[in-house]
Amino acid sequence: MTTTALTHLTQLVTNDPSLGEGPLGLIQDAAVVIDGDRIAWVGPSSKAPATDNAVDASGRSALPGFVDSHSHLVFGGDRTEEFNARMSGRPYEAGGIRTTVAATRAATDEQLSANVAHYLAEALRQGTTTFETKSGYGLTVEDEARALRIAGEHTDEVTYLGAHIVSPDYADDPAGYVDLVTGPMLDACAPHARWIDVFCEKGAFDGDQARAILTAGKQRGLLPRIHANQLSYGPGVQLGVELDAASADHCTHLTDADVDALANSTTVATLLPGAEFSTRATWPDARRLLDAGATVALSTDCNPGSSFTSSMPFCIALAVRDMRMTPDEAVWAATAGGAQALRRTDVGRITPGARADVTLLDAPSHVHLAYRPGVPLVSGVWRKGVRVA
Ligand code: NIG
Ligand code: FE
Repeated sequence: MTTTALTHLTQLVTNDPSLGEGPLGLIQDAAVVIDGDRIAWVGPSSKAPATDNAVDASGRSALPGFVDSHSHLVFGGDRTEEFNARMSGRPYEAGGIRTTVAATRAATDEQLSANVAHYLAEALRQGTTTFETKSGYGLTVEDEARALRIAGEHTDEVTYLGAHIVSPDYADDPAGYVDLVTGPMLDACAPHARWIDVFCEKGAFDGDQARAILTAGKQRGLLPRIHANQLSYGPGVQLGVELDAASADHCTHLTDADVDALANSTTVATLLPGAEFSTRATWPDARRLLDAGATVALSTDCNPGSSFTSSMPFCIALAVRDMRMTPDEAVWAATAGGAQALRRTDVGRITPGARADVTLLDAPSHVHLAYRPGVPLVSGVWRKGVRVA
């Protein structure tokens, strides 16, 4: 197998405290050796073993490829008009999802798949090497199963979100829709997904409905995650903890009891600052969660309604500026945090044996991701050992 080394990195983030300094395991003047699809060696450049190829990365820094644990990429159409209206003062409401449901149902398989590929390529160029994506804009048995099949053409981290909102076809019978989501739709979707998710929110699903949906999914072998406490206070976060969800996502409106529950659990609090940015909403308080001892991840929530960004660097900059995270905390959350939110140990770190996913920055340190917002600093991306950007 071919070996490649990145040498003379001004700084390297390993996310392994045993390899370097602090929680990010930082190494100065570092080298990384890739063998096939794995990391083979990490350490000071002066001690790097000989390799077939070498890239001199003087003046640059590297970090694990970003792990984006929350996106909604199987969709048709866009919502430019809704965004314009919102920026003129109209509030964001869960009901906007219906616009995308209509456009998604009308799209062909080829259009949907090309759309997913387009946004994944965009994310890859910005350093994201692992991505989760969801269904949730089909809301019929056939359209949800189709969305998951298409998602599975592009990633292994596929989430069944038949419970995004009550389907417009069941507007007068929400209980009937929950029966569909936990019955025939689950039967059709479970073979194509790893995760089950529910939007637990006013205007979507209440705590009892969300419990029934996640429990049914668990019984079929799907692992739970939850959209919780995005637009208002509610039962989502505590339900996620109770059901051992890998992640409770959004966490914008939290009581002290919610923060305590997260801090005393293995459920990651995944914060999605692109959503607050694009809906002009209150920022989640990352500082409060971190100070309480909760594990925090950052993701894009890329979707055409509430957060139409695929950029993890943008989310890091927002988290540092507006959610009171330090640059180190934000970079950890966008890499190792995302991996934990997907219960993965092979990604989100640059250590021997990990998948060779490396993002190279044209900057001397990862801090520049927040210090130089909006600047395209990503100058190289390796995924499974292959240079893809
Ligand atoms: O995570 N909260 C629910 N789902 C998405 C929004 C989807 C949409 O508006 O189309 C979210 O923000
Ligand atoms: Fe979402």
